[in-house]
Amino acid sequence: MSRPFPLQPGELRDLHGVQEQHALGASLAAALPQGALLFLEGELGAGKTTLTQGLVGALGFPEPVTSPTYALINAYPTPSGQVLHVDAYRVRDVNELYEMDLEDLITSSRLSVIEWGEGLYQDYPQAPILRLAHVDGQPELRRVTRER
Ligand SMILES: Nc1ncnc2c1ncn2[C@@H]1O[C@H](COP(=O)(O)OP(=O)(O)OP(=O)(O)O)[C@@H](O)[C@H]1O
Ligand SMILES: [Mg+2]
Repeated sequence: MSRPFPLQPGELRDLHGVQEQHALGASLAAALPQGALLFLEGELGAGKTTLTQGLVGALGFPEPVTSPTYALINAYPTPSGQVLHVDAYRVRDVNELYEMDLEDLITSSRLSVIEWGEGLYQDYPQAPILRLAHVDGQPELRRVTRER
């Protein structure tokens, strides 16, 4: 059975350190069903990769997760199924992603995380959007807001 989603739309939460960032990733993995999609936003260093690491780790894939900036799409084979990790930062036209069979990849994955996927928001209205940010003067903190 899946758990409730850890944040309501509009809710924000402070994450104190990498451990809490990983823990949020784990609770997202527990809440999101097979085939689900999650959008992640946030500036450089906001903790997108750290969150994804926690999510993938909770599904039983222990290897380090890296930013898929150069690969565009990374796939992590976890014991619960594949986790797709997409960085759409350099994608100018979402058709580039659809031409890579994005829809089938999402459907067949345990879950998918897309960074900078704003161009896909309308096509996936059920997918939650989380925004990560630094907090001024508090380098050991990140703030997450569920925007949708
Ligand atoms: N909640 C947190 N509190 C303190 N530090 C954190 C937190 N989450 C992540 N960090 C640290 O912030 C740094 C950047 O994190 P991460 O690489 O996950 O960011 P990112 O959003 O993926 O950045 P990029 O856009 O460059 O890929 C790392 O050193 C990580 O350990
Ligand atoms: Mg990253």
